[in-house]
Amino acid sequence: AEPKITVVGSINMDLVIGTDRIPRQGETIIGSGYSTFPGGKGANQAVAAARLGGYMTMIGAVGNDSFGKELLRNLTLNRINTDAVTVYEHEKSGMAFIMLSKRDNRIIVSPGTNHLVDKHLIKKHHEIISASDVLLLQLEIPLEAVMEAATIAKQSGVKVILNPAPYRSLPIELLNQVDYLTPNDQEAERLLSEIDDPSKIEDKLVVTKGKQGVNMFDHKKCITIPGYDVEVEDTTGAGDTFNGAFAYWIAKGDSLEMACHKANAAAALSVTKKGAQSGMPTMQQLDNFLANN
Ligand code: RIB
Ligand code: NA
Repeated sequence: AEPKITVVGSINMDLVIGTDRIPRQGETIIGSGYSTFPGGKGANQAVAAARLGGYMTMIGAVGNDSFGKELLRNLTLNRINTDAVTVYEHEKSGMAFIMLSKRDNRIIVSPGTNHLVDKHLIKKHHEIISASDVLLLQLEIPLEAVMEAATIAKQSGVKVILNPAPYRSLPIELLNQVDYLTPNDQEAERLLSEIDDPSKIEDKLVVTKGKQGVNMFDHKKCITIPGYDVEVEDTTGAGDTFNGAFAYWIAKGDSLEMACHKANAAAALSVTKKGAQSGMPTMQQLDNFLANN
């Protein structure tokens, strides 16, 4: 049977402008045409796991604006249950401005309704969380919602994966409730510098390092899973692809190392297409890639 995964997190519309370079302070430059893509770390991670076959439920919020409608439709098209996505009547949906250059990308998020995902809303949906195999969290919604969801999951023996992005300082009570922490390089550095005893969270750490692959720990021993050499079109959502796929295999009961290995390959495939979700592979696309790489 396919695993049940609940994502409590953000849903955004991404407005992407391509540019040769990032403008300097006070400077205006001409970029290329813009595109809109469904995004948001929460929704992206849900889509990544759904593509592989996960039975997904999203808990979050959108506004009753045109972006909100499109975002809901996109989740449904990706076979994600949206019964627990609240539609706020007079509010704006979350959106992200993305400057996409050859070398990197820069993102500003306007939280919109993601900001309204509070602990009361989470409590309302506690039964969805406690009936899941895995709960998958990020930090694009208020911390109180993240903490409430993690608490409900822990009480019901549900595994918790926290992708600490965008980074903020986290209380130790939350870190204690998490089974796996999936920062990128920079987030990992900050996380470890803020913790009294890093050895306490070491075994939970799965660090994504872009094309350098993934670092994980097994009984204090660091294992590096190398990255893949692929043609990069857009790295937006690569981390989200990793997290969604990782959650899928953890929920399936795969070993940590296997989950990292396959999620790493899914993330590599995702960067070959523009937009956060466009390149997220189906199981068949991933199997083909793994057979040839
Ligand atoms: O991780 C990528 C995502 O971050 C984008 O889709 C954007 O919406 C921001 O949330
Ligand atoms: Na992509």
